[in-house]
Amino acid sequence: MASIQGVYAREILDSRGWPTLECTVWLDTGVSVSTSVPSGTSVGKYEAKELRDNDQSRMLGKGVLAAANLINTTISPQLVGRDPLDQHGIDQLLLELDGTKDKQKLGANTTLAVSQAVCRAGAAVQNQALYHYIQSRYQLTDYFSIPTCIYTVVNGGDQGADNLDIQEFEIIPASHIDYLNSLNMATELFYTLKNVLEIKGAIHAVGLVGGYTPNLYSNSDVFEILVETIKASKYTFAQDLFFGIDTEASALFEGGKYRLKDKAHGYTAGELALYYKKLRSLYHVFYIEDPFREEDIDDWQSLVKEMGDTTRVVADTLTATNPERLAQVIDRQLCNSVLVKPNQVGTISETIAFVQLAKQHNIQTIVSHRSGETCDDFIADLAVGVGVDYVKFGPPNRGERVAKYNRLSQIYTELQYNANNNTVEQQ
Ligand code: PGA
Ligand code: ZN
Repeated sequence: MASIQGVYAREILDSRGWPTLECTVWLDTGVSVSTSVPSGTSVGKYEAKELRDNDQSRMLGKGVLAAANLINTTISPQLVGRDPLDQHGIDQLLLELDGTKDKQKLGANTTLAVSQAVCRAGAAVQNQALYHYIQSRYQLTDYFSIPTCIYTVVNGGDQGADNLDIQEFEIIPASHIDYLNSLNMATELFYTLKNVLEIKGAIHAVGLVGGYTPNLYSNSDVFEILVETIKASKYTFAQDLFFGIDTEASALFEGGKYRLKDKAHGYTAGELALYYKKLRSLYHVFYIEDPFREEDIDDWQSLVKEMGDTTRVVADTLTATNPERLAQVIDRQLCNSVLVKPNQVGTISETIAFVQLAKQHNIQTIVSHRSGETCDDFIADLAVGVGVDYVKFGPPNRGERVAKYNRLSQIYTELQYNANNNTVEQQ
């Protein structure tokens, strides 16, 4: 049995230039693996807490030196000699060392850095690709496939330029489109969109996750421009691709209404639901994430009742990758799809339990990046290894997003190689 010889964490920078954790596990076999964790900008109230230094004299208080120190001095000695295949036992130890409901003592960034590194170490010990290891360990899927990608091409809200209210506008390829073709399509459309925005004189700087942040009059204008972009391409709207949004509604609620610039005095929840229906029928928006605030339970419930058979009603901040929260949400039928973000809960075992529960109840799953990412591609393997329906990794733009797509391309080739008697078709 291979065992852990040491664990070491350091502060590195994420794609926003904010500190985050990288963690290395050394094994007695001489092998070492490293991984790093992401961080969100629109952090929901049910997410496990990150540990930050809050020392305003350094890195504007965002440092994670205390978290790294916890791993190096408190957690590492407890893991020396442990079997890296004992993911459950090690995650349990992390939960016990923390002892709080929301990881406020150690921080979910601290626990995930260790948990994720142990998972990579387990794959190394078994000599398996990470997605393979995750599949064989947890058996949440019987076969490997590349999930459908949700490409965020326009950023608003906290990820944008303070112009559009909806946080993400997404293009979603039809599920029959093969992964490489979908990536080609997203890339071509992303650059066609740039041309269309330029012709209209709308600025095309990019936001936090790499989508454009155009200067448009309303949120609905984005769909008109996307339709125009598709018309200018070789693709057919509502045949090759559809649209999705992440409203991130909690951020829009003010004075009892949801404030979107499309309507002068804001929307009541009922009016917002009508707006979603309009987007569904006019623009084939069939994926709606965080349509209402977490507390507006009745509104979630009626949206699922009214649109759930044709539309993905997707919980992100509502469920926060927390199995207990998901159980409540399932009981009340508040959504039909959930995002899976390991750093919202803080360990791989809890993330797996969340996906398992969702699958048991026919809730569709979407493995998602955060706005503060690193070039670590762990979530690409996780997505294939547990067999989720979708992934959301941002646009085909910027290194930290592209790293995940490129990893999916590698896995795609590997699957083809294994399926075709060790040969690969020319791209
Ligand atoms: P975040 O947002 O990573 O900035 O928190 C992403 C999302 O809401 O899906
Ligand atoms: Zn979201």
